[in-house]
Amino acid sequence: MKKSEIRFGVILVITFAIIGSAVSLFFNRFIDIGSSKTIETSAPKTKPIGGTVSYNPPLLQDAPADIKDAVMLGSNIMMNTQKYAAGYVGNKLNCTNCHFNGGITEGSRNGGLSLVGVAAKYPKYRKQSKGITDLLSRTNSCFEKSMNGKPLPSDSKEMIALVTYYQWISKGLPIYADIPWLGVGKIISTHIADPANGKQVFLQQCTVCHGNDGQGTLRAPPLWGSVSFNDGAGMHKPENLAAFAYYNMPKTNPYLIAEQALDVAAFISAQPRPHFAAKKK
Ligand code: HEC
Ligand code: HEC
Repeated sequence: MKKSEIRFGVILVITFAIIGSAVSLFFNRFIDIGSSKTIETSAPKTKPIGGTVSYNPPLLQDAPADIKDAVMLGSNIMMNTQKYAAGYVGNKLNCTNCHFNGGITEGSRNGGLSLVGVAAKYPKYRKQSKGITDLLSRTNSCFEKSMNGKPLPSDSKEMIALVTYYQWISKGLPIYADIPWLGVGKIISTHIADPANGKQVFLQQCTVCHGNDGQGTLRAPPLWGSVSFNDGAGMHKPENLAAFAYYNMPKTNPYLIAEQALDVAAFISAQPRPHFAAKKK
């Protein structure tokens, strides 16, 4: 081999090596090709996958023409479930009694249970029960428990409207984003709930709107009894009820301290309400 040939060969190898590493760098850095490379272990485990998000739901009337009717019906069902999903409701509640303003609120303090962004959070992976919960089954869970009623058929106009509504009010929020205003929230306290004190809190802070017997008035819906949510509902769990009351009640001005919220929740959860009998599928 001549010297010049060897030199040419070396240059060729080096050139390919440079091009090769540039190409692989490009793919690794800029295109996620799902390689099995180890993920940065220094990142905190709770790091939100979708980054930080801001609350900015679109207006209902801005929904595109092809979904607008469904979005409007979805809103009507949320606001007046008694009328727009009459055949499926078994108590005196409306979705908006817990999902304030039809779920279009920033949640957390005094927004009730927001639904803005739910479409980015479902279908939800469930570890234990090996499966997923989608927005249809999650909606029916509230129909069967919170509303003590019947599930909507998945092809009913009501279900189609609700799912379209969630999708529209979630516009712009990235899938898997960490959405801080969703959920009922938590109370951090070591207090052990005292239902007897909870009764006093109820009599002093709740009856003016929810009635002396908790059966509701024109100002607020029932908290227990035959026309309230059943014992399978999320709101029946004392920790949820306590957090909901702590962040949202009294509705005009939530001022309960953690101990009062925990106590009043223990009292309300112990009152009679319909029993949820899970049906065999
Ligand atoms: C100023 C009136 C007012 C007071 C006082 C009040 N609430 Fe409410 N509450 C409401 C209204 C109104 C709603 C329904 C919200 C809606 O539809 O936008 C509601 C909804 C609720 C709900 C969910 C729906 C249901 O009926 O189950 C719970 C639980 C609740 N309140 C608990 C309490 C507790 C506990 C207290 C006392 C610490 C309390 N509220 C005090 C007005 C009030
Ligand atoms: C008595 C209160 C109550 C009523 C009434 C109610 N819900 Fe709910 N809903 C809840 C609670 C509690 C949760 C669970 C919130 C959480 O995961 O922290 C929930 C969760 C949901 C979710 C999932 C939200 C999420 O962040 O994962 C959807 C969707 C939903 N409800 C739809 C409805 C619809 C539609 C209606 C009316 C047909 C309704 N709900 C009526 C209490 C209620």
